[in-house]
Amino acid sequence: MLPKAWDNGVMKNRKPLMAANWKMNLSLDEAGDLLNRVKKAEIDFNRVDVLVAPPFTSLQLAKKLLTGTSILIAAQNMHWEAKGAFTGEISPLMLKEVGCTHVILGHSERRTLFFETSEVVNGKVSAAIEAGLIPIVCIGETLEEREEERTLDIIRSQLNESLKTSCQQRSLPECVILAYEPVWSIGTGRTATSEQAQKVHLFVRRWLRENFDHDSGDTIRILYGGSVRPDNIRELMLQSGIDGALIGGASLRADSFLSIISFYES
Ligand code: PGA
Repeated sequence: MLPKAWDNGVMKNRKPLMAANWKMNLSLDEAGDLLNRVKKAEIDFNRVDVLVAPPFTSLQLAKKLLTGTSILIAAQNMHWEAKGAFTGEISPLMLKEVGCTHVILGHSERRTLFFETSEVVNGKVSAAIEAGLIPIVCIGETLEEREEERTLDIIRSQLNESLKTSCQQRSLPECVILAYEPVWSIGTGRTATSEQAQKVHLFVRRWLRENFDHDSGDTIRILYGGSVRPDNIRELMLQSGIDGALIGGASLRADSFLSIISFYES
């Protein structure tokens, strides 16, 4: 059965995913409280997948509280090596040990504040897949790039470089989720219009058809991220190319996160 919001003239057969990116927020107590609230909520997991990406220090707690539920756990970053002298880093296998099935990679805050290049992201994406984690690979343009009308060129080069060596054994939709996050809309309250987001999502699907097998463009999940809130999620989800959201600020409170998750009821 198609999710209700899909009946509205928008035909998608990809299951939506609502992913909470907590960034560097919440103490252990606050994390436990939020996780318990989300866990107790009535979520129709036939209609939507739900994922939380707490800081590393709360992953163990998330595993403890969420084991046996359908809520997925992700990390917000990782190193590409399995182990060794990499002070301050975390390996893919360590993330798996604490219950992660997914990992966010190439977030714009990592790219700009921690100088991660697409080449580094590419190495991490390959390592994640190799370890059996599903990377949520973020791409997006800055305000300056948008104003210079370079958005699609930037997206194309981020895709080319970040997915260069991915998924040689398996098809891309099985092993990667993409997230389009215009940098100018992250944490600014300025969401891309649904048309702006849709245009980029359709461009990414076309790129996938041309660079991977034809089905990838139709079956891969592409999330939108950047100032997603309860009052704009429905409009975004009505776009045929958008399959869910990567949510920062609004995922730190149970009421707003749960209201975004249940977008299909509105
Ligand atoms: P925001 O962050 O929802 O606070 O804009 C989104 C993100 O950075 O993933």
